[in-house]
Amino acid sequence: MRNFLVAGNWKMNCGPGETKKLLDGIKNSDVSIPERVDVLVCPPMISLTVASDELQDAEGVALGAQNVHSEDNGAYTGEVSTQMLNEVQCDYVILGHSERREYFGETDTTVNAKVIKSLSDDLRPVICVGESLEQRKAGEHQLIVRKQVEAALSGVSEDGAGGLVIAYEPIWAIGTGETASPDQAQEMHKMVREVLADLYSDDMADGIRILYGGSMKPHNAEELLSQPDVDGGLIGGASLKADSFTEIIRIAGELSS
Ligand code: 13P
Repeated sequence: MRNFLVAGNWKMNCGPGETKKLLDGIKNSDVSIPERVDVLVCPPMISLTVASDELQDAEGVALGAQNVHSEDNGAYTGEVSTQMLNEVQCDYVILGHSERREYFGETDTTVNAKVIKSLSDDLRPVICVGESLEQRKAGEHQLIVRKQVEAALSGVSEDGAGGLVIAYEPIWAIGTGETASPDQAQEMHKMVREVLADLYSDDMADGIRILYGGSMKPHNAEELLSQPDVDGGLIGGASLKADSFTEIIRIAGELSS
């Protein structure tokens, strides 16, 4: 039996008004949340309060942010803290997305500090890793992703790592309509699990969900989620429409039973 996590990364889409509409669409969908599927939505910061209210009566749908700062408070213009996310009932936070690494100067070091802070404040990090097209062509993809996982988890003990999630997102597949093939995804996910087993233990590695992200859509979700080490999806574009997002949830439900 599988136990999937289907997560939507809304990126810089949906202010409070649209957030309410999209969540209403998900809640009123014909697809009810399957028993063995956890659902997560990650709207922009400004929409978290509305989303939190909307999700009060939505069993099985958790709330996450797309970033957080590693300090408690202070002179960090434009940032939010873990306590602020706790206050609006966020359970998860996406960290180290390739867009944050590329456009906002996030490094393995800043991601690591955010992972440590989030875990210590009861937020489950969804740590994003993934290689560029050049790195894949050069045959460096395994090494790059291994290093990203190790760096993100530096100083994180097995006891403190409970609840974290890894998302493998090949940069060349994000927003391009091109996905990793099921074999490519499985190969990378298996490798990530081996890294986790090396860092912690086999049991721990088996319990950590490794999501695939990069143009996951209703038409390719089944073949990706059928791979033994793909424990769910981190979905961008297809999470912005209730129909496509709930269709992927439905597919995960079928595969989980
Ligand atoms: P797309 O599904 O739009 O390719 O985005 C994937 C992603 O970056 C999720 O974090």
